[in-house]
Parts: sequence; structure tokens; C-alpha cells
Amino acid sequence: MSVLALYSFHSVKGGVGKSTLATLNALQLAKKHPDARVLLVDMDLTGTSLADVLPLQAPRVSEDNVLALDSAAAEWCSVDDTRAAVRRRGDEVDPRQRHVAFLNDYLLFAPLDGSLDADPRSLFWKYNGAPKNLDVLPSSALPRDLQRILPVIFDEHQSAFLEARLETLISRVLSSDRNEADETLRDLHVVLDVPPTIPGLSRAVLSAVMRLSARDGVVDLADNRPTDRVFQDIETRRGRAFVVTSRDLQDLRAAARWLRATTDDRVRVIVNRSDEGSAVQMRDELRDALGGAPTGSVLDAPTESADASDWAPQFASAIWVPNNPSLRIFRAEDAIPNEQFDWLEAEP
Ligand SMILES: Nc1ncnc2c1ncn2[C@@H]1O[C@H](COP(=O)(O)OP(=O)(O)O)[C@@H](O)[C@H]1O
Ligand SMILES: [Mg+2]
Repeated sequence: MSVLALYSFHSVKGGVGKSTLATLNALQLAKKHPDARVLLVDMDLTGTSLADVLPLQAPRVSEDNVLALDSAAAEWCSVDDTRAAVRRRGDEVDPRQRHVAFLNDYLLFAPLDGSLDADPRSLFWKYNGAPKNLDVLPSSALPRDLQRILPVIFDEHQSAFLEARLETLISRVLSSDRNEADETLRDLHVVLDVPPTIPGLSRAVLSAVMRLSARDGVVDLADNRPTDRVFQDIETRRGRAFVVTSRDLQDLRAAARWLRATTDDRVRVIVNRSDEGSAVQMRDELRDALGGAPTGSVLDAPTESADASDWAPQFASAIWVPNNPSLRIFRAEDAIPNEQFDWLEAEP
């Protein structure tokens, strides 16, 4: 029995709690599935990197071999050394001097001959204090790297390239975890923190999650690009795409437009920082916005006479996450919460 589970966190606006919820979800999965590998993938190639806010330890790259990303790391820097290495990469004039390897290096550069490709495990960072089966792939938010990646992620034509790189990354990790004796695969859970809507990038991640978790079998990216054989050996596929919103009315409206683009039941909405009693507030707010009274509670669809354009059916099964100071795990040392989060019923 092998499992591939993919979870992506999206939003229309920044600052709604995607990275927080993605990180908590990854921590929870790692605790719950100690034998599985869990990856926290920071797809936010445009803004804050998880490397800026979590106590991470980068793989140590030797000064004379900084470009060799061809095997899993043997040694990790301390948290302080990691931060210093990130600063050095930011200051470096020579782009070949990387000092520290980010996800950007893998997503942007693909050799024409796949056999010379980097090993994605060489990009795995450790999360100080987190379960050992959790690895983090932080993106770089350094100006030098942004300059290089922005033209790619804002160009919709590059979307399939990024999606293919992400798919290759996942298939390489699965293959490298294959047990040589009995050929079995190790369970893999991938949590993707996706930046606010950017043409191309967020669609690439959503599409990869949906294709690779399709119940009736993996869907190829293109007719002339079949997915890797390894995906056929997965017995259980799961996928969840979360659209995170605050309970601010404008955010809810924007989320509704996003959600109405799909009827896939793997897409769920999370209303984050919803304080006590906010379900009632949201009902009142939505009732005003809809210009008519939804029948019963907010969990029902609006009446036919109401303007339904601000409504999305996924609101009916919204996950409500409270505003809770103990969820502020960023920029804090020893910040791995011990509690289990019932509200993260993430597993489909
Ligand atoms: N449920 C919550 N309760 C309290 N603080 C939260 C909650 N969710 C997020 N935050 C805080 O809100 C801020 C923005 O969250 P973040 O995860 O960085 O958002 P995003 O990734 O969407 O930009 C952070 O300071 C985080 O600690
Ligand atoms: Mg974020």
C-alpha cells in the first residue's frame, strides 16, 4: 500500500495565513504518519520565504562544489549558519556562487538531458525541532533570485514548464524512496504553499495537484509527455486544494470568484482567523452582500431571487480556523505547537 497525498494552499490576497496553515498541516502530517515522508514546499517564489520565518537548517554545500546538486545532503548547517549563508547568497555578485540551494534552483533550470538533472533531495532543508520525516523546500525571496524568476512565473506560457518541473521533483522523490528489496514505495505527503493568484504559477500547482491525485488514474500533462512510471505504482492518491480567506467581505467575494471556477470536491475553503461567533457574523455579512436572505443558515445556498454571484457552494463546507496566538509560529524559536488541530481535517 503506497500513498501519495498532495495538499495545496491558495488565496487571492496575501497575509491571510496560507503559510501558517500549510506549515501546521505539514507538521501535523509528519507526526501522524511517522513512516511517511512529508515535504513542505514553499512555492511562494515572489515574497516572504519560509527560510525567513522558520528555524531552518540548510544542507551544507562545500565551497568548491557549490553547483553539485546531485545527491542527498550529508550534513546540515546550524540555524545561524543557515541565515548567514542566505545573506551571503544575497550579497554574492557571481551567480554561480550559491552558498545555499533553494527550490528556485530546481524549478528554473532543467537540463535538456534529464539524466544530468539535480537530485531534489539535495534541496531538502531540516526544520529545527520538527519531526525527522519532515523536509522543507524553501523558496528564495532574495532580489537576485526574484529578478531571475519573475519573468518566468508571470508568463502564462511558462506555466506548463513549472508544472512539469514540480511533477518531476515529486516523481524523483518517490523513485529515490523505492525499497530495492521489494520495490515498494514510501508514502509521500506533499504540502504546497502557493503565492496569491499569479497567472501561471498558482494554476500550475493546482493543475499538478489535481492531475496527480485524480481518482481514476494520473492525468498526463500533455499528450506527448506521459507522467513518470512511478505514479502508476501508487495505490492511494489523495488531493486537496485549500482556498484560504479572511472573514473580510471583500476577501470572501474574491474567494467566491476563485471557487466558482471549479466544482471539484477536492477544493475546500478555509476561513482563517474567524473569531468566536463569526459564523453568525458571516451569515449576516453575506446576507447583506447577496442582497437577499439565504434560506436558513449561511450553509445553505442563497435563494434563487438573491444575487448569487458572491456565493460559492464550497462555503457550505468551509473549515473555520480560529484566531489563536499559539498558531503564530513564525519568527519564534521552539515554536512547534503540541496541540492537534481538529479543524485541519485536511485528509480527503
Ligand atoms: N489563525 C491564526 N491566528 C493567529 N494568527 C494567525 C493565524 N493565521 C495566521 N496568523 C498570523 O498572520 C500573519 C500572516 O500569516 P501568513 O501565514 O504569513 O499569511 P500568508 O502566507 O497568507 O501571507 C502571520 O503573522 C501569522 O502568524
Ligand atoms: Mg506566505
